[in-house]
Formats: sequence, C-alpha cells, structure tokens
Amino acid sequence: MSLRALADAAGVRVGAAVTAAPLRSDDRYRHTLVTEFNSVTAENEMKWARLHPDPDRWTTVDADLIATTAHEHDMAVRGHTLFWPHLAIPDWVTGQTSRAEMLAAVADHCRGVFARYGDTVARWDAINEPMHWLEGRLADQPWLGVIGPDWPIDVFRVAADAAAEVGVAPELWLNVTHADVLSEKQALCIELAQQLLDAGLPLHGIGLQTHCLVPDFIPELPTPEHLAAVVGAVADLGIEVAITEMDLLAEPTPAGLVRQGTHYRELLSAALEQPRLTEVTFWGFTDAHTWITDHFGERAPLLFDEDYRPKPAYDGVADALRHRASSLAREETVR
Ligand code: G3I
Repeated sequence: MSLRALADAAGVRVGAAVTAAPLRSDDRYRHTLVTEFNSVTAENEMKWARLHPDPDRWTTVDADLIATTAHEHDMAVRGHTLFWPHLAIPDWVTGQTSRAEMLAAVADHCRGVFARYGDTVARWDAINEPMHWLEGRLADQPWLGVIGPDWPIDVFRVAADAAAEVGVAPELWLNVTHADVLSEKQALCIELAQQLLDAGLPLHGIGLQTHCLVPDFIPELPTPEHLAAVVGAVADLGIEVAITEMDLLAEPTPAGLVRQGTHYRELLSAALEQPRLTEVTFWGFTDAHTWITDHFGERAPLLFDEDYRPKPAYDGVADALRHRASSLAREETVR
C-alpha cells in the first residue's frame, strides 16, 4: 500500500516538498511523487522573490507547473510562503522605509498570489519562521522595524484582508522552526498564536517544520513525548497542527538508516495520535534531491534513496500512518 493510500485511510495529508526542475525532466521523480503523496509544497517556487521578483513582474512558470501537477493528480498544495522574514523577500520590499508602503507591498503581493492560486492552493504558510532560528524571540531583521514590534499581527492581518478582497478563503498558517525541540521556542510559538487569535485573526493552524538536523545544527532529536506535547499544545488552542518540513539526518550506513527509520516511526506515531494533526509533509522525498546535501553533506535524510528505492525511513512512516488508519477504523466501528 502506498503512503498516499495509508494517509487517505488515516484521514491526513502526506506531502513532500518538490522542485520544478526534476518534476519537468525526471519521470521517476514525478511518478514517485504522484503515487506516494497526496499533497505537495513548492520547495522554493512560491516564495516571494521567486514568484514576484519586481513590483510589476511575476514569474510563475515553475509554480504553475507544481500547482497543475497537483491538480492533475488530485493532490493538495501547501503554499509556501507569503512572508518569510529571513529569506526570499526581494530587496524592493525590505528596502522600503515607510511602514505604509511596506504593508502595501505585502498586500499587493498577497492579492496577486490569491488571484492566481485561489483555486489551487487552499492552505498557505502565511508567515514562515516568525521566530529567530534558534532562540525564543521573534525574528528581528532590522527592516522589520519599519513595520513595528507587532509585525506578525500586522502582516497576518494584511494577508487575511487581501484574501477577502480577492474573494477567497485559504487557510492561513504560521510555520515554525525547532519548536518541536526547543522549549523556549515552543512557548513563544504558542504565545504568538494566542496573540493572533486574540486579535480576531483567522489563524488556521501551526506548522512544525521538524527538520531533525542532529547533531549538526541542533543538539538533540525531539523525543516522541516532547513532539506529542508540542502538537498537543497547539491543538489545545483549538487550531490545526501539521508537520510541514520533516527530514532527519542519518549516518549513511545500514545501521544508521535503520535507526533513522525507527526515529521516523516513533516521532510520527506520537504526533499522529493527535486528531487535530492534519498533515505530515517531508522536505523532499528522495535523497537525490535535498537541500541537506548542500548544507550538511551526504546524510540521506529522506524516505527514498537516490535511486528511488524505499528506505527503512519509508517503512517507519508507513507504520505510523498505518497505526493511525487502524485507530480511525476502530473508532468508526465503535461509532
Ligand atoms: O536557483 C538558483 C540557481 O540559479 C543559482 O545558480 C544558485 C546559486 O546559489 O542558487 C539557486 O537558488 C538556490 C535555491 O535554493 C535553489 O537551489 C538559492 O541560492 C538557495 O538559497 C535556495 O535555498 C533554499 C532555502 O530554503 C532558501 O530559500 C532551499 O533550497 C530550501 O530547501 C530551503 O527551504 C527552507 C524552507 O523554505 C523554510 N524552512 C527551512 C527550509 C530549509 O532551509
């Protein structure tokens, strides 16, 4: 049974980040994607600087390919991302010195995105990585000061208003790093979500990226208990929660790959216990195409090897989905 079939039975999305180049040129890449996943995220192609590099110029060919592929294969799309303070916002935006003009640029960008993808992309990372990468404080790029200290609320409001103006109602999410493992980031993430909700904004959910970059970037893996606790803390806000960018560094040895499979199984089994968890997305699916290689070397972080053969990681994920599907089936029998 494919991951996709298991996820359908489990009532969740199982997704992968994709890039347009192999989607266009590599049949194995395309085939594995559409067979095994029911959701896609554009790894880079829907980021602001890629989609809308100049005020009057949109470059949508690659993003369109991803959206069309998803549509043809009955897959959901997670839009990534409207606003990412760390990267991928063009200079003509970050160079604005007036708050009104900067927010007008955000509004214009969001309206353009919603007008083009309103029919195909129903779930957006409205703000990606609102916090500092490793510390429990908001991202503090100097240009954000032009908007002011409440910039997440201001930006989120502009995005929600833009959707209403265009006449669409996409889900708007926050997507956060390392709240799965750093408790001060978890606390700030929940606080920020609460602030958005208190401001009456339509925060639909929180994406936990869950890049398991151990030991190179973060000291330790989340424990299954810790991940379940974060997922539960988000669910307690009454909103949805997703794993949005999971990958997990391995020693590329047989034993290392088996250990990796165990970690995937344990972490996702714990997260999938939570009914408000509606999506598990990996940051790629084959070790042939992963951002990890450029940053951390050959660390085999994904579910398929470079020849598209399923790894122990694949089996671990399948087991976690199967477990949730069985629990769901049991609950439905009881009802
Ligand atoms: O496409 C250009 C190419 O034309 C050029 O020659 C080359 C020279 O550096 O750069 C290429 O662009 C790179 C792009 O990836 C495509 O490979 C950019 O420099 C590089 O910065 C970009 O990195 C991406 C990064 O986000 C920054 O946007 C990674 O692929 C992507 O995996 C990564 O994804 C992020 C999520 O969006 C947010 N969460 C963390 C995650 C991992 O860092």
